[in-house]
Amino acid sequence: MPLGSMDDREAFRLAEGLESLHVAIIMDGNGRWAKERGQIRTVGHKAGVDALKRTITAAAELGVTHMTVFAFSTENWRRPEAEVSDLMGLLRAFIKADLARLRREGVCVRIIGQEAGLPPDIVGMVADAHEQTRDNSRFFLQVALNYGAQADIVEAARVLAQQARDGLIDPEAITPESFGASLSTHGLPPLDLLIRTSGEHRLSNFLLWEAAYAEFVFQDILWPDYGRESLKQALDIFARRNRRFGAVDPGHAAQSA
Ligand code: IPE
Ligand code: IPE
Ligand code: MG
Repeated sequence: MPLGSMDDREAFRLAEGLESLHVAIIMDGNGRWAKERGQIRTVGHKAGVDALKRTITAAAELGVTHMTVFAFSTENWRRPEAEVSDLMGLLRAFIKADLARLRREGVCVRIIGQEAGLPPDIVGMVADAHEQTRDNSRFFLQVALNYGAQADIVEAARVLAQQARDGLIDPEAITPESFGASLSTHGLPPLDLLIRTSGEHRLSNFLLWEAAYAEFVFQDILWPDYGRESLKQALDIFARRNRRFGAVDPGHAAQSA
Protein backbone atom coordinates (compact mmCIF):
# COMPACT_ATOMS: atom_id res chain seq x y z
CA MET A 1 0.00 0.00 0.00
CA PRO A 2 1.35 3.45 -0.83
CA LEU A 3 1.93 6.01 1.92
CA GLY A 4 -0.68 8.80 2.00
CA SER A 5 -4.09 8.95 0.36
CA MET A 6 -5.00 10.37 -3.03
CA ASP A 7 -7.01 13.14 -1.32
CA ASP A 8 -3.89 14.31 0.51
CA ARG A 9 -2.10 14.65 -2.76
CA GLU A 10 -4.60 17.20 -4.03
CA ALA A 11 -3.36 19.59 -1.36
CA PHE A 12 0.10 19.64 -2.89
CA ARG A 13 -0.42 22.53 -5.24
CA LEU A 14 1.11 25.95 -5.80
CA ALA A 15 -1.07 29.07 -5.66
CA GLU A 16 -2.75 29.93 -8.95
CA GLY A 17 -0.58 31.85 -11.42
CA LEU A 18 2.81 31.02 -9.86
CA GLU A 19 5.39 29.27 -12.03
CA SER A 20 6.78 26.07 -10.60
CA LEU A 21 10.37 24.83 -10.52
CA HIS A 22 10.52 21.18 -9.48
CA VAL A 23 13.94 19.79 -8.60
CA ALA A 24 14.62 16.19 -7.56
CA ILE A 25 17.80 15.05 -5.85
CA ILE A 26 19.36 11.61 -5.48
CA MET A 27 21.33 12.38 -2.33
CA ASP A 28 24.24 10.00 -2.79
CA GLY A 29 27.70 9.61 -1.28
CA ASN A 30 27.12 9.58 2.49
CA GLY A 31 28.99 6.29 2.93
CA ARG A 32 32.01 7.40 0.93
CA TRP A 33 32.10 10.73 2.81
CA ALA A 34 32.28 8.83 6.12
CA LYS A 35 34.86 6.39 4.79
CA GLU A 36 37.13 9.26 3.72
CA ARG A 37 37.09 10.32 7.36
CA GLY A 38 37.64 6.85 8.76
CA GLN A 39 34.13 6.87 10.25
CA ILE A 40 31.22 4.44 10.08
CA ARG A 41 28.57 5.01 7.38
CA THR A 42 26.01 6.35 9.85
CA VAL A 43 28.25 9.36 10.49
CA GLY A 44 27.87 10.16 6.79
CA HIS A 45 24.09 9.78 6.96
CA LYS A 46 23.99 12.14 9.94
CA ALA A 47 25.97 14.74 8.02
CA GLY A 48 23.62 14.06 5.09
CA VAL A 49 20.64 15.21 7.17
CA ASP A 50 22.40 18.53 7.83
CA ALA A 51 23.06 18.86 4.10
CA LEU A 52 19.37 18.26 3.43
CA LYS A 53 18.37 21.01 5.86
CA ARG A 54 20.82 23.46 4.22
CA THR A 55 19.60 22.50 0.78
CA ILE A 56 15.90 22.96 1.61
CA THR A 57 16.59 26.49 2.88
CA ALA A 58 18.75 27.32 -0.14
CA ALA A 59 16.25 25.83 -2.59
CA ALA A 60 13.41 28.01 -1.31
CA GLU A 61 15.67 31.09 -1.53
CA LEU A 62 16.85 30.23 -5.05
CA GLY A 63 13.36 29.98 -6.52
CA VAL A 64 12.76 26.24 -6.35
CA THR A 65 9.08 25.64 -5.53
CA HIS A 66 8.99 21.82 -5.31
CA MET A 67 11.74 19.47 -4.24
CA THR A 68 11.66 15.67 -4.27
CA VAL A 69 14.48 13.92 -2.44
CA PHE A 70 15.39 10.25 -2.44
CA ALA A 71 15.87 9.26 1.18
CA PHE A 72 15.55 5.46 1.08
CA SER A 73 14.96 3.15 -1.85
CA THR A 74 13.09 -0.17 -1.92
CA GLU A 75 16.50 -1.68 -2.69
CA ASN A 76 18.19 -0.10 0.34
CA TRP A 77 16.79 -2.94 2.54
CA ARG A 78 19.72 -4.92 1.14
CA ARG A 79 22.03 -2.94 3.42
CA PRO A 80 23.18 -4.22 6.83
CA GLU A 81 20.37 -4.18 9.40
CA ALA A 82 22.24 -1.76 11.67
CA GLU A 83 22.62 0.80 8.88
CA VAL A 84 18.92 0.54 7.94
CA SER A 85 17.92 0.96 11.56
CA ASP A 86 20.22 4.01 11.94
CA LEU A 87 18.67 5.55 8.82
CA MET A 88 15.16 5.07 10.24
CA GLY A 89 16.36 6.59 13.51
CA LEU A 90 17.69 9.64 11.69
CA LEU A 91 14.37 10.08 9.91
CA ARG A 92 12.51 9.92 13.24
CA ALA A 93 14.89 12.50 14.69
CA PHE A 94 14.50 14.75 11.63
CA ILE A 95 10.70 14.74 11.83
CA LYS A 96 10.75 15.29 15.60
CA ALA A 97 13.29 18.10 15.53
CA ASP A 98 12.39 19.90 12.31
CA LEU A 99 8.71 19.45 11.54
CA ALA A 100 7.54 22.40 13.65
CA ARG A 101 10.13 24.68 12.03
CA LEU A 102 9.24 23.52 8.52
CA ARG A 103 5.57 24.16 9.29
CA ARG A 104 6.34 27.69 10.55
CA GLU A 105 8.42 28.36 7.44
CA GLY A 106 5.50 27.50 5.16
CA VAL A 107 6.82 24.16 3.93
CA CYS A 108 4.31 21.49 2.90
CA VAL A 109 5.80 18.03 3.49
CA ARG A 110 4.64 14.78 2.01
CA ILE A 111 6.29 11.41 2.00
CA ILE A 112 5.87 8.92 -0.84
CA GLY A 113 6.78 5.26 -1.06
CA GLN A 114 5.59 1.86 0.10
CA GLU A 115 4.11 1.50 3.55
CA ALA A 116 4.96 -2.22 3.76
CA GLY A 117 8.20 -2.87 5.59
CA LEU A 118 8.43 0.49 7.35
CA PRO A 119 8.29 0.57 11.16
CA PRO A 120 4.67 1.39 12.16
CA ASP A 121 5.66 4.45 14.22
CA ILE A 122 7.34 5.93 11.12
CA VAL A 123 4.18 5.37 9.06
CA GLY A 124 2.28 7.32 11.73
CA MET A 125 4.86 10.12 11.86
CA VAL A 126 4.81 10.42 8.10
CA ALA A 127 1.02 10.82 8.04
CA ASP A 128 1.23 13.36 10.84
CA ALA A 129 3.95 15.35 9.04
CA HIS A 130 1.68 15.77 6.06
CA GLU A 131 -1.39 16.49 8.16
CA GLN A 132 0.41 19.24 10.07
CA THR A 133 1.81 20.97 6.98
CA ARG A 134 -0.86 20.32 4.36
CA ASP A 135 -2.12 23.91 4.25
CA ASN A 136 1.35 25.34 3.56
CA SER A 137 2.21 26.40 0.04
CA ARG A 138 5.46 28.41 0.16
CA PHE A 139 7.61 25.37 -0.61
CA PHE A 140 6.77 21.73 -1.26
CA LEU A 141 9.06 19.02 0.03
CA GLN A 142 8.40 15.48 -1.15
CA VAL A 143 10.48 12.80 0.54
CA ALA A 144 10.75 9.45 -1.22
CA LEU A 145 11.02 6.83 1.50
CA ASN A 146 10.94 3.11 0.77
CA TYR A 147 10.27 4.29 -2.76
CA GLY A 148 10.93 2.53 -6.05
CA ALA A 149 9.64 3.93 -9.32
CA GLN A 150 8.93 0.52 -10.85
CA ALA A 151 6.77 -0.48 -7.87
CA ASP A 152 4.98 2.88 -8.07
CA ILE A 153 4.23 2.35 -11.77
CA VAL A 154 3.03 -1.21 -11.13
CA GLU A 155 0.77 0.02 -8.32
CA ALA A 156 -0.78 2.62 -10.66
CA ALA A 157 -1.33 -0.11 -13.28
CA ARG A 158 -3.01 -2.28 -10.65
CA VAL A 159 -5.36 0.51 -9.56
CA LEU A 160 -6.36 1.26 -13.16
CA ALA A 161 -6.75 -2.44 -14.01
CA GLN A 162 -9.03 -2.89 -10.99
CA GLN A 163 -11.10 0.15 -12.01
CA ALA A 164 -11.42 -1.27 -15.53
CA ARG A 165 -12.44 -4.67 -14.16
CA ASP A 166 -15.08 -2.96 -12.01
CA GLY A 167 -16.39 -1.17 -15.10
CA LEU A 168 -15.48 2.27 -13.73
CA ILE A 169 -13.15 3.19 -16.58
CA ASP A 170 -12.70 2.19 -20.19
CA PRO A 171 -9.16 0.84 -20.80
CA GLU A 172 -9.14 2.78 -24.07
CA ALA A 173 -9.55 5.99 -22.09
CA ILE A 174 -6.28 5.55 -20.16
CA THR A 175 -3.89 8.33 -21.18
CA PRO A 176 -0.43 9.40 -20.02
CA GLU A 177 -2.19 12.09 -17.97
CA SER A 178 -4.59 9.69 -16.27
CA PHE A 179 -1.80 7.19 -15.69
CA GLY A 180 0.41 9.91 -14.18
CA ALA A 181 -2.49 10.92 -11.95
CA SER A 182 -2.47 7.40 -10.48
CA LEU A 183 1.20 7.59 -9.44
CA SER A 184 2.20 8.60 -5.91
CA THR A 185 3.81 11.77 -7.28
CA HIS A 186 0.40 12.89 -8.57
CA GLY A 187 -0.38 16.55 -8.06
CA LEU A 188 3.20 17.78 -8.40
CA PRO A 189 4.23 19.87 -11.38
CA PRO A 190 6.42 18.19 -14.01
CA LEU A 191 9.98 17.47 -12.96
CA ASP A 192 12.34 20.12 -14.34
CA LEU A 193 15.74 19.12 -13.00
CA LEU A 194 17.11 15.88 -11.58
CA ILE A 195 20.38 16.07 -9.67
CA ARG A 196 22.55 13.16 -8.54
CA THR A 197 25.56 13.72 -6.36
CA SER A 198 28.71 11.63 -5.76
CA GLY A 199 29.62 11.15 -9.43
CA GLU A 200 27.25 8.23 -10.07
CA HIS A 201 25.39 8.42 -13.38
CA ARG A 202 22.25 6.34 -12.89
CA LEU A 203 18.64 6.66 -11.76
CA SER A 204 18.62 3.72 -9.31
CA ASN A 205 14.84 3.29 -9.79
CA PHE A 206 13.98 6.92 -8.95
CA LEU A 207 11.17 8.84 -10.75
CA LEU A 208 11.40 6.79 -13.97
CA TRP A 209 8.08 8.12 -15.29
CA GLU A 210 8.42 11.66 -13.99
CA ALA A 211 11.91 12.19 -15.45
CA ALA A 212 10.63 11.91 -19.04
CA TYR A 213 11.59 15.51 -19.87
CA ALA A 214 13.69 16.44 -16.88
CA GLU A 215 17.18 17.84 -17.32
CA PHE A 216 19.88 15.75 -15.62
CA VAL A 217 22.78 17.28 -13.72
CA PHE A 218 25.40 14.97 -12.21
CA GLN A 219 27.70 16.51 -9.64
CA ASP A 220 30.83 14.92 -8.21
CA ILE A 221 30.34 16.34 -4.70
CA LEU A 222 29.42 13.87 -1.96
CA TRP A 223 26.00 14.59 -0.46
CA PRO A 224 27.14 15.60 3.06
CA ASP A 225 29.13 18.46 1.47
CA TYR A 226 26.12 19.72 -0.50
CA GLY A 227 24.48 23.07 0.13
CA ARG A 228 23.64 26.44 -1.37
CA GLU A 229 26.73 26.73 -3.55
CA SER A 230 26.32 23.32 -5.21
CA LEU A 231 22.60 23.80 -5.73
CA LYS A 232 23.22 27.22 -7.28
CA GLN A 233 25.76 25.60 -9.60
CA ALA A 234 23.22 22.95 -10.68
CA LEU A 235 20.52 25.58 -11.23
CA ASP A 236 22.92 27.68 -13.32
CA ILE A 237 23.68 24.65 -15.53
CA PHE A 238 19.93 24.00 -15.81
CA ALA A 239 19.27 27.62 -16.81
CA ARG A 240 21.70 27.26 -19.74
CA ARG A 241 20.03 24.11 -21.06
CA ASN A 242 17.78 24.34 -24.08
CA ARG A 243 14.58 22.37 -23.44
CA ARG A 244 12.82 21.52 -26.65
CA PHE A 245 10.25 18.92 -25.55
CA GLY A 246 10.47 17.26 -28.95
CA ALA A 247 9.92 20.46 -30.91
CA VAL A 248 12.50 22.71 -32.58
CA ASP A 249 14.02 25.96 -31.30
CA PRO A 250 11.85 28.98 -32.03
CA GLY A 251 14.84 30.42 -33.98
CA HIS A 252 15.11 27.31 -36.17
CA ALA A 253 11.34 27.19 -36.71
CA ALA A 254 11.46 30.77 -38.04
CA GLN A 255 14.39 29.86 -40.38
CA SER A 256 12.71 26.86 -41.89
CA ALA A 257 9.26 28.50 -42.22
C1 IPE B 1 23.08 7.92 0.09
O1 IPE B 1 24.39 7.67 0.44
C2 IPE B 1 22.11 7.71 1.25
C3 IPE B 1 21.24 6.54 1.09
C4 IPE B 1 21.21 5.72 0.08
C5 IPE B 1 20.32 6.31 2.16
P1 IPE B 1 24.99 6.20 0.38
O2 IPE B 1 24.77 5.55 1.70
O3 IPE B 1 24.46 5.48 -0.78
O4 IPE B 1 26.52 6.52 0.20
P2 IPE B 1 27.56 5.76 -0.72
O5 IPE B 1 26.97 5.70 -2.11
O6 IPE B 1 27.76 4.40 -0.15
O7 IPE B 1 28.79 6.59 -0.67
C1 IPE C 1 19.98 5.67 -4.38
O1 IPE C 1 21.28 5.56 -3.93
C2 IPE C 1 19.05 5.76 -3.22
C3 IPE C 1 19.14 6.94 -2.39
C4 IPE C 1 19.91 7.97 -2.56
C5 IPE C 1 18.26 6.95 -1.26
P1 IPE C 1 22.02 4.15 -3.77
O2 IPE C 1 23.37 4.45 -3.24
O3 IPE C 1 21.18 3.23 -2.98
O4 IPE C 1 22.09 3.63 -5.27
P2 IPE C 1 23.03 2.56 -5.95
O5 IPE C 1 22.94 1.30 -5.14
O6 IPE C 1 24.41 3.12 -5.94
O7 IPE C 1 22.50 2.43 -7.35
MG1 MG D 1 25.06 5.31 -2.71
